[in-house]
Amino acid sequence: KTEMNIGLLGLGVVATGVVEMLAIQKHKIEKQTGVTLNLSKVLVLDKAEKQALAAEHGFELVTELKEITEDPTIDIVIELIGRISPAKDYILAALRHKKHVVTANKDLIAQHGEELIQVAKDHHVGFYYEASVAGGIPILRSLATSYMADHITSIQGIVNGTTNYMLTKMVEEKMDYATALAKAQALGFAESDPTNDVDGIDAAYKMIILGAFAFGKSLTINDLSIEGIRRLDLADIFSAQSLGYEVKLVGEVKQTSAGISASVGPVLLPKEHPLATVKNENNGVYIESRGIGKSMLYGPGAGALPTATSVLADLIEIAKQSQGAQLYPPFNELKEELPLA
Ligand code: HSE
Repeated sequence: KTEMNIGLLGLGVVATGVVEMLAIQKHKIEKQTGVTLNLSKVLVLDKAEKQALAAEHGFELVTELKEITEDPTIDIVIELIGRISPAKDYILAALRHKKHVVTANKDLIAQHGEELIQVAKDHHVGFYYEASVAGGIPILRSLATSYMADHITSIQGIVNGTTNYMLTKMVEEKMDYATALAKAQALGFAESDPTNDVDGIDAAYKMIILGAFAFGKSLTINDLSIEGIRRLDLADIFSAQSLGYEVKLVGEVKQTSAGISASVGPVLLPKEHPLATVKNENNGVYIESRGIGKSMLYGPGAGALPTATSVLADLIEIAKQSQGAQLYPPFNELKEELPLA
């Protein structure tokens, strides 16, 4: 039997979910992969407030990155700090010390994914980020496996849980914008600075990652036209509703005759559109393709346990690979150069 030791960077909402889910699933993963996943060290800013959790789960709290990256017994590093700095440097350090890396960091993958994937390849380690898009929905793995058989023509997503939660509450409970945002923050869906959520940037990062998987196209944030929900007028939303539409913040990457076009913005969806049924913090990714036709993956896009489950799925991928199983290719290996519209 093989053991793999894990170093976790951060102990916020999602990381705490990972601690919990790993404790629940450890035995099953061990039986099905032959690998025991041990959470051995967790990097925190302040040890005092996490002592109880550490004692309960038997991991060590550390405050210096090198206690994880330079520990030869650690095989896998999970980065759940978020944002670019210092997360990017921490991941680079882990990869260069030949640790497999799992992250949920959409900002980082959307902006520096190719560079990080190259470093992972150079060091012959795995680098996975299922949790970076649509929280608990296994969308990247689906795109990289089953949908690879298909020719995707468009991918549309409600991929920001915070704004979808806010829009649902504003419409169904007549909640005002500030209260709805405060609730999304209290529930742990929103980013610590929710600007990227409400301005559509978080959704844009996720659409960049989805675009890479669906079309093999490396988009940058400047390639998308982006609008958030700040300027939405509640009266307009209600009149759209009375005409049979839902207002949703929708991201889209599609193939046109001129090339790939990508956007994020408020969209009027007829109530019978599958994405119109996506409520609260749920996400939906709706795909049009030549083979399957129309399909949608639906589920929670944020929150501790759903996102943690996607992190665990990546750990399982690494565990299986250590036993000689095949992996799905990272997105830059799918690249096929399509022009931008
Ligand atoms: N702030 C993000 C959202 C978290 O609301 O969707 C999940 O990426």
